Amino acid sequence: MYYGEKVHLRALEMEDLDTVLSGWNNLDLRRHLVTPLPVSRPAERQWLERATMMHPFRDGGIVLAIEDKDSSEFLGTTSLMGIAKQHSRAEFGIAIHRESDRERGYGTDATRVMLWVAFNILGLNSVHLRTLARNERAQRAYEKAGFRFVGRYRDAAFVMGEFQDVVTMDCLKRDFFETLPPGKPVGTT
Ligand SMILES: CC(C)(COP(=O)(O)OP(=O)(O)OC[C@H]1O[C@@H](n2cnc3c(N)ncnc32)[C@H](O)[C@@H]1OP(=O)(O)O)[C@@H](O)C(=O)NCCC(=O)NCCS
Repeated sequence: MYYGEKVHLRALEMEDLDTVLSGWNNLDLRRHLVTPLPVSRPAERQWLERATMMHPFRDGGIVLAIEDKDSSEFLGTTSLMGIAKQHSRAEFGIAIHRESDRERGYGTDATRVMLWVAFNILGLNSVHLRTLARNERAQRAYEKAGFRFVGRYRDAAFVMGEFQDVVTMDCLKRDFFETLPPGKPVGTT
C-alpha cells in the first residue's frame, strides 16, 4: 500500500502467523530488542489478532508488514505505537527478521516510508524511538531515514547479561518535509 524504493508496507494478515512466529523466536533478532523471551503460538496469534484489527486513533498504534517491492517476500514488521492525539506523536519500531535481509537497505527504506505514513497519512508532528546504544547499525539506518540523535539514558536496559545504554532519536514533521515535500511519495509502485 505504501511504497519506498526497495520495500512496500502492507497490512498484517493472520496468514502471516507462521512467518512472524519463526522470525520472532530468534535470539539473533531479539537480542537487539529489549525482552528476548520466546513467544508461544497462542500468544503470537493473540498479538496478531490485535495487530491486524488495530486502528491508530482508536487503539493508539499501527503495525505493518514490510515486503520486498519486487518479490513481495515478507521481510519483517514496522510500527508506530503510543500514538498520542493531544501531542500528535508516536514511537517508532522496526525489525527485519532474517540476518540475510539486513544491511541491504531495507531497514532505511522501510523507516522512511513509515515516517512518510506518520506525517502524510496520520498527520503526526513528531516520531521518536529508543534503541540500544550498541545497535549502531540501527542508528545509522534511522539517521539515513531522517531521525536525529536526541540523547542517551545510561544503563537503562538489561539485555543479554548486562546493563546497556539506550539512545533516543526523533524526527519532526517539519524536518521530514524539508527533505520530502508534503504529498510526495518515497517511492513509486
Ligand atoms: C536495525 C535494522 C532495522 C536496520 O535495517 P537494515 O536493513 O539492516 O539497515 P540498512 O541496510 O538500511 O542500513 C544499515 C546501515 O548501517 C551501517 N552499519 C552496519 N553496521 C554498522 C555498525 N556496526 N556501525 C555503524 N554503522 C553500521 C551499514 O553500513 C548501513 O549504512 P550505509 O548504507 O551508510 O553503509 C535491521 O538491521 C534490524 O531489523 N535489525 C535487527 C532488529 C533491530 O535491531 N531492530 C531495531 C531495534 S531499535
